[in-house]
Parts: sequence; structure tokens; C-alpha cells
Amino acid sequence: MKIEHVPVMKKEIGSALSVIKNGIYLDCTIGEGGHALSLLESDNSPKKILGIDLDKFILKTTRERLKNYKNKVCLSHGNFANLKTIIAKMGYEKVTGILFDLGLSSFQIEKPNRGFSFGKTEKLDMRFNTNQIIDAGKIVNSYPESRLKEVIFKFGEEPKAKKIANAIVQNRPIEDTYTLSEIIKKAIGKQQNSRKGINPATKSFQAIRIEVNQEFSNIQSGLNQAIEVLDKSGIIAVISYHSLEDRIVKNILRNASKNCICPDQIPKCICQHKATVKLVSNKVIKPSEKEIKENPRSRSAKLRLAKKL
Ligand SMILES: C[S@@+](CC[C@H](N)C(=O)[O-])C[C@H]1O[C@@H](n2cnc3c(N)ncnc32)[C@H](O)[C@@H]1O
Repeated sequence: MKIEHVPVMKKEIGSALSVIKNGIYLDCTIGEGGHALSLLESDNSPKKILGIDLDKFILKTTRERLKNYKNKVCLSHGNFANLKTIIAKMGYEKVTGILFDLGLSSFQIEKPNRGFSFGKTEKLDMRFNTNQIIDAGKIVNSYPESRLKEVIFKFGEEPKAKKIANAIVQNRPIEDTYTLSEIIKKAIGKQQNSRKGINPATKSFQAIRIEVNQEFSNIQSGLNQAIEVLDKSGIIAVISYHSLEDRIVKNILRNASKNCICPDQIPKCICQHKATVKLVSNKVIKPSEKEIKENPRSRSAKLRLAKKL
């Protein structure tokens, strides 16, 4: 079966990044290259796209998908948390446009044996980078109950985190995604979210995935380095898919756009912070109704744009 990820808000990304002619773009989450391909095929095709992804299996697909542009594309298996070093190895110090399309790809959800989906019975994995030692199984079966509770509460905003963590510990060892989702369902009680048809394990699975891949700390360091390597007037575009992720992005970009980040109670600025970006818009950009209809996975997407000063 051919699985192809549909890039979200590709028109918006295209018009945001193409303000500079002959650009050098850094796609920090190139995935299957959906955004990259639409940028390369556009009237304002960039000079180069540097692409990073943590998933080495996805990069095989990307290489094939972008083969007609192989002279313009440079791919690297790596973590965007190290993007400065990665682009330096590619021979670049600065770029004119940067894209982060956070979260996971349809490839990862639908390919067997990646353990991201509770709809199937699979080994508990959830790693973007399969070279990494820690996977979902290790977290579920070895974290102390208090730490599990904290992860599920903090990264899943799950009010029943305590009950869920306790049920997990009582039922160890847990080997697969289906068993884990049934344990969570039982711990929460059936009524939770059943009206909306949302699987009660959704929040806990999200939390475990975030912990496995250290997603929030990666965003923090990736985004801060991205601002550094962006050329004057270059654009940074970030698409996030849930509120916690978006909050991190919003705070980093807002702080970077301020000339003072002293707390409100300090009457005179002492921080000497200087704005490095200008927010393109204070509000998030969301996909159109039409896009959501055509690609329901886009419904939770939020795009933030900033321009380097
Ligand atoms: C939503 S998909 C990107 C889809 C892509 N824009 C496209 O149009 O095909 C997100 C991708 O980010 C990758 N990813 C997640 N965290 C990463 C990180 N810290 N560094 C590099 N890639 C990461 C995932 O492996 C996944 O392929």
C-alpha cells in the first residue's frame, strides 16, 4: 500500500517562504517531502532545500519522491535540535526560510510496527528515530508510577493521569498498543470522551509519544537555533498540532520579537534583550474549511510565522 502524507497549508507555506527569490530553505521536518515538493514545483522554486528528519525510513521515501530535484535537495538523518551543526556539515551557516511541520507523518501512523496507533495491536515503540534506545515499552514498563503520572498529566493534560499510571503499573508487563489502550480505557471509565467518539487513550498515547521523542525540548532548542541561522528578512514558519506544542512555539517567537523580556513588576528594563524577529501576525493561521474537508488531519493545525530582523 502506498502511503502519502498530505502536506498541510502548503499554499500558505509557499507564499510565506517565497518572499525571497532563489531562496535556501531549511525544512526541519521534511517527512515525505510533501511541502518540499510543492515548494520545488512552484514558480518561485528555491535554489536549495536542506531537509532534516529523525526517521531514516521516511527519508528513503523522500529521496525517491524528490529525485527529479536531487541537485537542489540535501537530506540529513538527524534531530532538528542539532540543526546548526547539521546545516554546517551541509556547508551552510545561514538560510532564507525555515519550516517546522511538527508531529508525526501519515507514514508513521499507517506503516506497520511503529507503535504510534492504538487502533492496531503493535509493539509499544513510538520512536521517530529507531536508533534510539528508549521506546514506549521502556517508559510504560519501567518508569516509576509518580513519573508516569507526571508525564501523562503534563504532556497529555489528562485529568485522570493518577488512575492511569496506577493501572499501568498494576498490569505490567504491557507488551502492545492494544493492551495499553484497553488498560487506560478501563482505568478512566467508559463514559470519558465517548460522546465525541474520541478514543479515551488518545491523551495518554500523545503524552507517551512526547516523552519517548523528547518533543518539547527538541522544539525549544530547534526553534532557538532556527532564529539564529535565519538570514535578515528570512521567514520562519511553524505548524503545530496541539495546544501544548503551539504554546511553546508562541512563547519562543513572542519573546524573540520583544525588546524587553523583564517581568512586569520591574519598572526599568534590565534584561538588555533585543528583538530578533517580527511576528508576521499576532494570530495563528488555520487551514481553510475546504482544506479541513479534503484532509481532516489538518483540522488541528496552527501556523505561526515570523520574519528575521
Ligand atoms: C508532520 S511530518 C512532516 C511532513 C512533511 N512536512 C511533508 O509534507 O511530507 C513531521 C515529521 O517530523 C519528523 N520529526 C519529528 N521530530 C523531529 C525532530 N526532532 N527532528 C527531525 N525530524 C523530526 C517526523 O519524523 C516526521 O517525519
